[in-house]
Amino acid sequence: MVVGISGASGIIYGIRTLEHLRRVGIETHLVMSRAAEMTLLYETDLKPKDVRALADHHHAMPNVGASISSGSFRTMGMIVVPCSVRTMSEIASGITASLMSRAADVVLKERRRLVLAVRETPLHSGHLRTMAQLSDMGAIIAPIVPAFYSRPKTLDDIIDHTVGRLLDLFDLDIGVVKRWKSERGTEANGAVETISVEQAIAMAGDPGVVFVDVREGFERENGTIKGSIHSSHGYLEFHADLASPMQMPELASGKKLVLFCGSGDQSAIVAKTLKDMGIDNVAHLAGGFGAWQKGGGPTEGQ
Ligand SMILES: Cc1cc2nc3c(=O)[nH]c(=O)nc-3n(C[C@H](O)[C@H](O)[C@H](O)COP(=O)(O)O)c2cc1C
Repeated sequence: MVVGISGASGIIYGIRTLEHLRRVGIETHLVMSRAAEMTLLYETDLKPKDVRALADHHHAMPNVGASISSGSFRTMGMIVVPCSVRTMSEIASGITASLMSRAADVVLKERRRLVLAVRETPLHSGHLRTMAQLSDMGAIIAPIVPAFYSRPKTLDDIIDHTVGRLLDLFDLDIGVVKRWKSERGTEANGAVETISVEQAIAMAGDPGVVFVDVREGFERENGTIKGSIHSSHGYLEFHADLASPMQMPELASGKKLVLFCGSGDQSAIVAKTLKDMGIDNVAHLAGGFGAWQKGGGPTEGQ
């Protein structure tokens, strides 16, 4: 993953992103602006070389010939965290004068994921228009805004939760987000069979088991469980209904259906819906595709 760190306040979010990506084994390519180096000195006791050491590869801002400036260099996308208004505006303009904006532009043109963790407040309508323009271009504008439903006790809790939510946007569950569970999700979890990731991986390739990916198409960009079928949660009811013209034969095959989503909440709700329809051979995967990837289960479609 490409990690851009620009000169907005909150340099710690960029540092923590690098630390977590290293911990979960994601290769990082860092590009840090001069202003980011300045904010680093204001906001921490670290030196730029300490931050660079957290990345697998780092590239100098003027080096528009670096690997990440080419679309042929495959990445899972780019996050700019924190993202200054200046960097955001340069990316929106398409003036790719630095490696930061060039790498971001490449991610957009290759239709990969670009997450901009913008940090500025208050915002004038020029900022807001630029954000809307970038969103139209395919970027995700994810301002750094702390959540309090997770009852944070320390600043670290807030930083980790925010970074976790940003990396969720790449379908990466780094295990630090305290997830909100709806009453529906909790109730569903108790009502359907839950399969651990170890059990599920042991079932891979079993002809009596069908893995069903209930995520939306855009959530599947980082791949899926090898051999699984796809029926997004909005359609599964119709695909499972014997009376529906949209019925999918695999869902009526009598095989054990193991539903999975990104993190295990949505699949519990959908599995409960199928159970309520009289389909008993249904279970769901705890932790979803994130846990499957982390557990080393076979995947396809990346
Ligand atoms: C301590 C400090 C904090 C700053 N905080 C912000 C901020 O939160 N948001 C922002 O857009 N710019 C902020 N700036 C201004 C940017 O650093 C400045 O616009 C710079 O030109 C951004 O360059 P860059 O996008 O190449 O990193 C801050 C500057 C300093 C020195």
